[in-house]
Amino acid sequence: MTIKLTFLGHSAILIEAKRKKILIDPFISGNPSATVKASEMKVDDILLTHAHGDHTGDAITIARNSNAQISAIFELANYLAAKGVKTQGLNMGGKVPFDWGYACWLPASHSSSLPDGTYGGSPASILIDIDGTKIYHAGDTGLHYNLKMVGEFYKPDIALLPIGGFYTMGIEEALKAIEWLNPKIVVPIHYNTFPPIKTDVNKFKSNVGEQTTSKCVILNPNESLEI
Ligand code: NI
Ligand code: MN
Repeated sequence: MTIKLTFLGHSAILIEAKRKKILIDPFISGNPSATVKASEMKVDDILLTHAHGDHTGDAITIARNSNAQISAIFELANYLAAKGVKTQGLNMGGKVPFDWGYACWLPASHSSSLPDGTYGGSPASILIDIDGTKIYHAGDTGLHYNLKMVGEFYKPDIALLPIGGFYTMGIEEALKAIEWLNPKIVVPIHYNTFPPIKTDVNKFKSNVGEQTTSKCVILNPNESLEI
């Protein structure tokens, strides 16, 4: 089975497997680096790490157009359900079954409120398991020791890690996170979208090569990786 992972810019990731399309953190129309149109996207599931506008993004529009369910932490799911979309509210650590596998919402060290100030519940990261292939989207986060737990217990194959700094961890913290997560492949996310999170992604890639046993794959917006 091939799993196709496409970077849509910022933290937005499209995963295609088992004839299903799974979309994480679809911040597309407001994203200066996006090359796809949110209004044209059709997916099966939308998963959200937290409530900030650069992660919930176009979730409502795409959910409506696709008749897709949004899975998110309970408080965020309730907020979205009130806007008339199908949602599934969940919480930390349970295995949430999908017809393509399962996902677990796990800790992130961050905050989570909607653009109108409504409390969005806990911020999270998401581990996706498709027939034993594990993809870990770290969400927005600073360095935290639960990443060691994720590495030890869930053993992700691929880690999507924020490296832009300012709102999240930067390059040096991400290198420590890679040591703890020990993935085969790391894909940097959440950098260069806006001036405060500008960083040198090529420096990150060379540091990963020199200091870790993982392989760094830089994806430009709309570029894919097949697993
Ligand atoms: Ni955030
Ligand atoms: Mn963010």
